[in-house]
Amino acid sequence: MRYRTIGTGAARRRVSALCLGAMKLGGVMDDSASFAILDRFLEAGGTFIDTANNYRFWEPGCTPDDSEALLGRWRAARGADLPEELVIATKVGARPTVAGGGAESWEGLSRSAVAAAAEGSRRRLGVERIDLYYPHVEDRAVPLEETVDALSELVEAGTVGLLGASNHAAWRLERARGLAEAPGRHRYQVLQLRYSYLQPRADLPLPEAAHVHATRDHLDFVREENAAGRDTAVVAYTPLLMGAYTSADKQLSRAYDHPGTRARLAALDEVAAQTGATRNQVVLSWLIDHDPPIIPLVGVSRTAHVDEAVEAADLRLTADQRRILDEAE
Ligand SMILES: NC(=O)c1ccc[n+]([C@@H]2O[C@H](COP(=O)([O-])OP(=O)(O)OC[C@H]3O[C@@H](n4cnc5c(N)ncnc54)[C@H](OP(=O)(O)O)[C@@H]3O)[C@@H](O)[C@H]2O)c1
Repeated sequence: MRYRTIGTGAARRRVSALCLGAMKLGGVMDDSASFAILDRFLEAGGTFIDTANNYRFWEPGCTPDDSEALLGRWRAARGADLPEELVIATKVGARPTVAGGGAESWEGLSRSAVAAAAEGSRRRLGVERIDLYYPHVEDRAVPLEETVDALSELVEAGTVGLLGASNHAAWRLERARGLAEAPGRHRYQVLQLRYSYLQPRADLPLPEAAHVHATRDHLDFVREENAAGRDTAVVAYTPLLMGAYTSADKQLSRAYDHPGTRARLAALDEVAAQTGATRNQVVLSWLIDHDPPIIPLVGVSRTAHVDEAVEAADLRLTADQRRILDEAE
C-alpha cells in the first residue's frame, strides 16, 4: 500500500492511497460479508474509509442509516485492533427528512441541519470526533457563509477533524475558500468528485443526477491551492465506472458514447497487456499518480474487489505507459 497526507497543520492525517467506499456495506449486505471486506482492506494496509449519512436510502430494503451503523458495529467489534491511523469520512446534506423521500426532502446544509446530522453520524459511527466531514452536495438555498460557519463550529468544538466538500462546483469552492480566511472558520481541505480515466461529454447529463464530475477547473484549482501551500486532496468516486471497465453487463451512459472513449479503452487494453494488470488496476494506478494526485474511492461488494484494488496501489506505470494513456483521445 502507498500512503498520502490529507489536511494541513494539526488536522493533517496520513491515509492509504486508496479509499474504500462503504456505500454498499450494511443494509442488504449482512455484517459477516461487510466485516470481511473491511478486515481485508485493513490487512492490506488500507486506512481510509468513506461513508455518508444517507447510504443507501434509495435501495429497496435499505435505510439511510445502514452504512454508518454497519461501520459503528464493526468499530465496536474490532475495538483495540483498529489502527490509530484509521480515517472514516462521512457526509451531510443529502439525507431525506421523510421516510421514502427523495432529493426534494434532503436535510440540506443549514446550521441546524448540519449540527443535528453530525450528532446522528457520531452516534451511529460510535465516535467522539468525525475524522473527515463533507457537505455531500451543495445547498444553494442556504447562504454558503452559514454552511461554512456551521461546519467550522464542529471543528472548533472538536467533534470534526477535517472538512472536505463533495460535489461542489469549482467556483463555489473558491468562494468557500475566501470565506474560510476569516478567524474561526475552516477551509475544505479534501474535495470529493466523480473522476476516472474515461471522460464523459460535458454537454450531456450523467444519469446519476447528484454526481458532479471533476472538470479542468477543479483540477486547476487544486494545483493552484497546492502551489500556494494550502494542500488540497482530491478523492475520486466511481473510479471503476461501477464495474463498466470489466463487466459487459454494465453499460456506460450516453455521455461516454464518443470517439475518445474508444481510443481510451484501446490505450487501457494496450497498457493492461504490457503490465499484466487488469483494466481496473491500470485506471487506479493512473489516478494515484495523476497531477494533481488523486485518491481513488473504490466501491466494493466482495473481498475479491478489495484484493484487485489494493494490488493496483502497488502498480507503477512507466512514463511511456502514462504517455500512451494520456495521449489517447
Ligand atoms: N460523493 C458522492 O456523491 C458519491 C457518489 C457515489 C459514490 N460515492 C462513494 O464512492 C464509493 C465508490 O462508488 P462506486 O461504487 O460508484 O465506485 P466504483 O469503484 O466505480 O464501482 C464499484 C463497483 O464496481 C464493480 N466492480 C469492482 N471491481 C470489479 C471487478 N473486478 N469486476 C467486476 N466488477 C467490479 C462492483 O459492482 P457490483 O457491486 O455490482 O459487483 C463494485 O461495487 C461509494 O462506496 C461511496 O463511498 C460518493
